[in-house]
Amino acid sequence: MSKIQLPKGTFDVLPYGAQEVWQLSRNWQFVESVCREVASLYGYEEIRTPLYERTELFQRGVGETSDIVMKEMFTFQDRGERWISLRPEGTASVMRAFLENQMAPLKPVHKLFYLGPMFRYERPQSGRYRQHHQFGVEVIGAAKPEQDAEAIDLLFQIYKKLGLRNIKVNVNTVGDTETRARFKEALLSYLKPFFNELSQDSQVRFEKNPLRILDSKDPKDREIIKEAPSILEYLSEPAKNHFQELCHLLDIIQIPYAINDRIVRGLDYYNKTVFEFVTEDLGAQNTIGGGGRYDGLLATFGGPDLAGIGFGTGLERILQVMQAQQLLNLEESHPLIYFIPLGDQAREKCFSLATICRRQGWKVEIDLSAKKMQNSLQNAIKLKATYSAILGDAELEQEMIQLKHMETREQKEIPLNDLLNTMKRLI
Ligand code: HAM
Repeated sequence: MSKIQLPKGTFDVLPYGAQEVWQLSRNWQFVESVCREVASLYGYEEIRTPLYERTELFQRGVGETSDIVMKEMFTFQDRGERWISLRPEGTASVMRAFLENQMAPLKPVHKLFYLGPMFRYERPQSGRYRQHHQFGVEVIGAAKPEQDAEAIDLLFQIYKKLGLRNIKVNVNTVGDTETRARFKEALLSYLKPFFNELSQDSQVRFEKNPLRILDSKDPKDREIIKEAPSILEYLSEPAKNHFQELCHLLDIIQIPYAINDRIVRGLDYYNKTVFEFVTEDLGAQNTIGGGGRYDGLLATFGGPDLAGIGFGTGLERILQVMQAQQLLNLEESHPLIYFIPLGDQAREKCFSLATICRRQGWKVEIDLSAKKMQNSLQNAIKLKATYSAILGDAELEQEMIQLKHMETREQKEIPLNDLLNTMKRLI
C-alpha cells in the first residue's frame, strides 16, 4: 500500500527528528511564550475563536475583492448545507466574537491577542504555507495615533526579545474614505493608458480594487507603478495629521521605520495606518508581520462605531529568520536520572522511586524496554541523562542502589532510602 503523506503546504512540528531546526516543537514553544509574555506586558489578553466560521464573515470582513477571499479560502458546505470556511486570518473572527459576546461595554479599550493556525490555499513555497500560524493582536476602541505606535512597538519588541536582527518596519497610510476616493480617481487616470500592459490580475483590480495594483509583485506592473501618484499627496487633513503624529511618535520611541507609500496590504478593511515588518533573511517572502488600522470595520458588522487596529505575524517566518540568524540553539531538556531496573522486583521499586522523584519536580525516566544492562546504559546516553540509577537483585536485597554520573562515569552505591536526600545534595 502506498504511504499517506501530509497535505501540500503543511508541515509537522516534532519534538525531535525534524528535518529543520525551525520545525522543533521546543522552538515553537519558546517563540509562543515570548509573544505571550511581551503582549501581557502591554496589557493584552488572549482570545480564542473557532478555526472555522461562516464563509460570509470573511466575505464581509476581509473583503469580496481581496485575493484571500477570491482565491485562497478553504470553503465547503457542512452536512447542514451551511457554507463554512477555515479561517484565513484572525481579525474578522475577533470582530464577530467581540460583537456576539457583547464585550463592548466591559472595558474602555479592548486589547486582545491570539495564537494559532490560519488557512490559505496559496501556492506553497518556502515561507508560504497552506496552514500557517499567526500571533496577532486586535485593539478595539482606541483611535489615537499612540495606539498605532504602541502596536508597532509591541511587535518590534517581540522581535527584539527573540533576538532578531535586521528587521525594519515600513509604514504608510491609506487615508480615510475621502482620501481613497480622490486618490483612486488619480490612480485610475494614471493607469488607464497602461491598461493593456498590466498583468491579468491587475486588470481585474483596475475595475474592482485599483489600490491593490500598487502592491503587485508582477515585474511589468512594478515598472508602471513606479511613476504612479502617491497616496500621501491626497490625504485629507485628519488622515494627514494622524500619520504625521504616528511618525513623530515612532521617532520618539526610536523604531527604525521607513515611509513606503506603495504599501496597501492585501485585506480590504484597512484605513489610515498600514505597516509591514520586513527582513532580508527570508528570500521572497520577506514580510514577517503586518497590520494596520480598521476603524469602522465593526460598524460594517452592525456593531458600534469603534476604532480598531491590529497586526499578525507569521510564526513560521519568525522561526525561519531565527534559524537563518542561528538563534535556535535551545537545548533539549534531559532527564536528571535514568532508572535501570534489572528484574521484575527491581522494576516495581524503580517505578515507585521514579514517581517520588517526579513529585519532587525532577525529570526522570525509567527503562522499561531493554533486556541487557549495556542496552539500558546506551538508552541513558541517548536521552542524555545526567545520572543513571541501577537496581539489580543484589542491590535490592541490601536496599542499595548504584548511582552513576553519565559524564564522569563516577559510580557509587547509596542506600535506597537515601536516594532523595543524595539527589537534593547533588543538584
Ligand atoms: P496578513 O499580512 O495577511 O495580515 O498576515 C500576517 C502575517 O502572517 C504575514 O505578515 C506573514 O508573516 C504571515 N502569513 C500570511 N500568510 C502566510 C502563509 N501563507 N504562509 C506563512 N505565513 C503567512 C493578516 O492576516 C491580518 N489579519 C493582520 C491584522 C490583524 N491586521 C489587523 N489586525
